[in-house]
Amino acid sequence: MKTSRFVKVARMADLERKGCVVLQVEGHTIALFLHQGSLYAIDNRCPHMGFPLDRGTLQDGVLTCHWHHARFDLASGGTFDPWADDVRSFPVRVEGDEVWIDPSPRADEQARQLQRLEDGLQRNIRLVIAKSVIALVEKEENGHGPLQTGLSFGTRSRRDGWSMGLTILTCAANLLRSLNAHDRARALYHGLAAVAQDCDGQPPRVPMRPLPVLSTGPDPLKRWFRRYIEVRDAEGAERCLISALRGGGDPAQIADLLFAAATDHRYLSTGHVLDFTNKALEALDVVGWQHAEAVLPSVVLNYATADRMEESNAWRHPVDLVAILHAAFERLSDALETGARRQAAWGGRTALIPVLLGEDPRAIADALLTALREGATLQALGGAVAYAAALRIARFHTANEFGDWDTVLHTFTFANAVFQGLRRAPSPELARGLFDAAMSIYLDRFLNTPSAPLPKVEEGVLDSKRLLDELLTTLDRQQQVNEAGHLVARYLASGARAEPLLAALGHALFREDRDFHTIQAMEAAFRVYSLTEDPAEKVHVLIAAARYLAAHAPTPRAQGQTYQIAYRLHRGERIHEET
Ligand code: FES
Repeated sequence: MKTSRFVKVARMADLERKGCVVLQVEGHTIALFLHQGSLYAIDNRCPHMGFPLDRGTLQDGVLTCHWHHARFDLASGGTFDPWADDVRSFPVRVEGDEVWIDPSPRADEQARQLQRLEDGLQRNIRLVIAKSVIALVEKEENGHGPLQTGLSFGTRSRRDGWSMGLTILTCAANLLRSLNAHDRARALYHGLAAVAQDCDGQPPRVPMRPLPVLSTGPDPLKRWFRRYIEVRDAEGAERCLISALRGGGDPAQIADLLFAAATDHRYLSTGHVLDFTNKALEALDVVGWQHAEAVLPSVVLNYATADRMEESNAWRHPVDLVAILHAAFERLSDALETGARRQAAWGGRTALIPVLLGEDPRAIADALLTALREGATLQALGGAVAYAAALRIARFHTANEFGDWDTVLHTFTFANAVFQGLRRAPSPELARGLFDAAMSIYLDRFLNTPSAPLPKVEEGVLDSKRLLDELLTTLDRQQQVNEAGHLVARYLASGARAEPLLAALGHALFREDRDFHTIQAMEAAFRVYSLTEDPAEKVHVLIAAARYLAAHAPTPRAQGQTYQIAYRLHRGERIHEET
């Protein structure tokens, strides 16, 4: 029955009698209109929410859907209401009394979906974002296309540069490998919707050009970058960075330049500067260093405008932590050199943790220096400090102010950023971040006073599937903080594989309306968990993750409703018939 790719679908006589017929053609439901003497074929499902378009109103070549009144050019399918999306049109031809339609798949579907995503980001239309991400992830599970589109859009569309949205997007991309297949598109949807929200109504970012002649080496550019950040000159610093990138600075050199300036002052903006920098570098790990010039300069304004803890009361009184840190930094090079001469592996982690969680900031700084002298690598110390920060969450007492969850969260995500940074580009400058994180852990000590006990469970065979179901049910109720931590401990004590638990926690995270801090907490916990060796410590890290999530769940889940509509439309379900 086919001529080329065309399929015979109707007779002209029927169309002349009815004006419109609805056809099933190779899996498509197509509305065929005879209008003002011409034939038009379009998908009969309104791209907005699936209402049958043959029930719409056709006037002067424009078809109006009756549900939310989206208007479509009948000839092309293009909409005049971008929130509704274009409807697909099909080529039609007439041979005698026979009507033929070409239903072949679009050759450029990937490019079309990426353009839809770009449109959704530009106009901050969540439903369009969700639909395009679902279609894209179905073809490409690693989500590189949506991530790259979101990064490109987010870094050029907000004058103030990198912020929460891009951080959430990168966290989502990092978590993909831990999620079940059906949660991956949902995770990216949350990240991309957050980027669109951040950029909505914002002036675009105008990037600096590199210096005209790129003869300056990386060392002067690093020096100048730090000097300009010191005086809060974002444009001068950005020109140094873009010049270092265009001049061929390698990823480790560029990371080192950024990390040095991010730790020239204490705990910048409660850790966000270093955390955002780490996330920008992690995003490049996924999409490729060729995007560095577009991505990294977007973090610079955060450096220049950051709060410096030298100016905060808590870091100066009653104990001058900044003075303690500066004294420690003067001994840092010597400690690193002494440690580098040691041959034996460092074995002091277990003894270090209680000191980090203790009451004496001088002892904490001394313990870190001692560990370095004993040969602890910066990466090993990064892991120990990040674990101690996770314990603050695992032991956070629910009698604290609710807002103090953010306090321990900030310390933990900063400690994780230091840890990941030290794995990427260890340096004496970034080592200062270890001490900052340790001082923040010290400042958080009252949030563990009294301390919530870590769950103690007997090892034994349990129904692990039932425990995961129970965990998800528990997270349906508010403030089940200790219960959630206990279920995680019981699950892991049962000897069951961790991957289903991680997937369940990830599902529980992304079924909620997105909360920046909860997504940060979970992503950092998953990363620290994956890099922690001691089985008991691994359990504590996931207890921290589950407790933080339980403190912030459930939400109204309204964003998930938008996603669910998009998902059901993608599957061809009939949403309009339920309303
Ligand atoms: S406008 Fe058609 S379903 Fe909403």
